[in-house]
Amino acid sequence: MGNIVELMKQEVGKAAALKVQSNSVIGLGTGSTTAFAIEYIGKRLAAGEINNIVGVPTSFQAEVLAKKYGIPLTTLDAVDHIDLAIDGADEVDPQKNLIKGGGAAHTREKVVDSLAKIFIVVVDGNKLVDKLGSSFLLPVEVIPMAVTPVMRQLAQLGGKPELRMGVKKAGPVVTDQGNLVIDVKFDSIDQPAELEKTINNIPGVLENGLFVGVTDIVLVGEIKDGQPVVREF
Ligand code: A5P
Repeated sequence: MGNIVELMKQEVGKAAALKVQSNSVIGLGTGSTTAFAIEYIGKRLAAGEINNIVGVPTSFQAEVLAKKYGIPLTTLDAVDHIDLAIDGADEVDPQKNLIKGGGAAHTREKVVDSLAKIFIVVVDGNKLVDKLGSSFLLPVEVIPMAVTPVMRQLAQLGGKPELRMGVKKAGPVVTDQGNLVIDVKFDSIDQPAELEKTINNIPGVLENGLFVGVTDIVLVGEIKDGQPVVREF
């Protein structure tokens, strides 16, 4: 099963990298699926298939991968637009709304992905859900001194909040911005646009992982007759 998911991620990352055109500014997302897209963009650059690309990384991980695969980087101070952003997601609903933040990078991802003229989401078929919140907890980035009151207010909104803890590191996960992440279980997210705004209005919250009305294209990696295929919706 693990290998099949890996194969789906690889094919979908490749398909997204093929959408990159010369002379463009590319938002480089975070996560294991986008990592394949970054790798293939770098390979296309090295092969001379495309040229004059600059990337805006959404995380330390994206920055490290872009350097590894030879993609020149820039910042939002140096460019006035992003042509195309490629990023993963943890859940995708039929309206192309997303939950992101499984890698604790959703704050910078939302800045970059929202600015892009075209935002492509790359996922394997397991990420498609009828309703957001069905399988994944909603990540909320919070400044450290506000964690306790923010958790209380998230509980008042009907959520079950828990502070995200590190793996292979004692203590909580610390984001690229030096903040903490609260993962919230909601029984059902019926109105994602409202919930996104309500949570972001809590003092101390930097950003939550609901991406509503931002996605243009979803590329889904699936297995058909034992072969990986990429479908667009
Ligand atoms: C990072 O914070 C997330 O938003 C990722 O984009 C998301 O978790 C997808 O990651 P995978 O492609 O590794 O599942």
